[in-house]
Amino acid sequence: MKKNIVLIGFMGTGKSSVGSKLAMKLNKEFVDMDREIENISGMTVTEIFRRFGELRFRSEESLMAKKLSLRDNLVIATGGGTVLLPENIEVLRQNGIIILLEATAQDIHTRVSRKKGTRPLLKGSYTAEDIQHLLDERKPYYDCADIRVNTSSKDLDAVIEEIINELN
Ligand code: S3P
Repeated sequence: MKKNIVLIGFMGTGKSSVGSKLAMKLNKEFVDMDREIENISGMTVTEIFRRFGELRFRSEESLMAKKLSLRDNLVIATGGGTVLLPENIEVLRQNGIIILLEATAQDIHTRVSRKKGTRPLLKGSYTAEDIQHLLDERKPYYDCADIRVNTSSKDLDAVIEEIINELN
């Protein structure tokens, strides 16, 4: 059975772009948990938050983690908050290796500012300091990773190469 590769990390650390390219390189299937939840529910993540609240989204996320852990040979991009429920990571780890993507608050700020409105937890105006604050709060949860890769000041190919080296 071929293990899954599970990408965790804060919003804007590159989980989706790294995940899709890594999957191609490793001949695995790429699954983005947020997109999968959107396809199944017929609503965007923003809509789920707005209409039903964060708790409902978190329960959809847990169901998705369970479902994906039953499959293999996947590269999974989790949502930035999937780690907040430790059982999600326990379940994904049963059949996967957990890779944390990290970036500076400044880089995250630049990246997420390009896609305004798609992240309900960052609605309204926010600064790199606000992001640093959230990053600090989440740090203990991201510490569950088997491998950590910094995506700041590195291009996509360099990140992929580093991950592949770490996996070997
Ligand atoms: C969230 C991150 C988002 C999405 C939702 C909540 C979070 O995913 O799951 O908006 O709690 O950090 P990305 O990390 O892909 O932006």
